[in-house]
Amino acid sequence: MDFYSAEKWIDWVDTLSENDYVIVDDFVSKEMFQMLRSSIFHHLQEDSFKKAGIGALAEYQVKPSIRGDFVYWLDRERDSNLTDLFLLIEHIKSMFNRLCYLSLSGYEFHLAHYPAGSFYKKHIDRFKARNNRMITVILYLNENWQKGDGGELKIYKGDSETFLVEPVGNRCIIFKSDVVEHEVLITNKSRYSLTGWLLYQPSTLGFLRI
Ligand code: OGA
Ligand code: MN
Repeated sequence: MDFYSAEKWIDWVDTLSENDYVIVDDFVSKEMFQMLRSSIFHHLQEDSFKKAGIGALAEYQVKPSIRGDFVYWLDRERDSNLTDLFLLIEHIKSMFNRLCYLSLSGYEFHLAHYPAGSFYKKHIDRFKARNNRMITVILYLNENWQKGDGGELKIYKGDSETFLVEPVGNRCIIFKSDVVEHEVLITNKSRYSLTGWLLYQPSTLGFLRI
């Protein structure tokens, strides 16, 4: 299934290679947006979100002073209601491989919930213990996000430049996982997203995803 034309991807990839990130509004269909929101609320009700941690493998730890969100890791087999999402992820991966010669061979995605009062301090997404995260993809799943709700994604560019991305519904931000420093500012209400990484040669080690 082709979700977006090669022309669109060429534009997005150009912006990404120039700026290290690209923002695309109205990224997915209304149906997929609603499907992802329903999935979030379903898993919240089932209590399947877990407190997120930092670091990989032996360095993994839960540190609420750094990160206060809860995540639900998606699994292609188990989350069979999200087949269209996995097709979209495959599409994104294959466009990066085609246009950037990246040899991305895997991915990992989770749904994320930041309860009111939570945040994620400044970091980059590439782990020290596992350095195969290449591209970060975040899709915001909030409805009626207002100025004053907080929860902005703060992107650091170079030494002194920063800017804020509001987590408005169906906005997608894609950035280079190894270079873009970023943080999630304290949110004043529940903040939802789909977040994932395109991976270079996923290791055969069982990753800790708690
Ligand atoms: C992350 C992250 C940012 C966001 O999960 O690593 O930085 O805007 N998320 O949700
Ligand atoms: Mn991050």
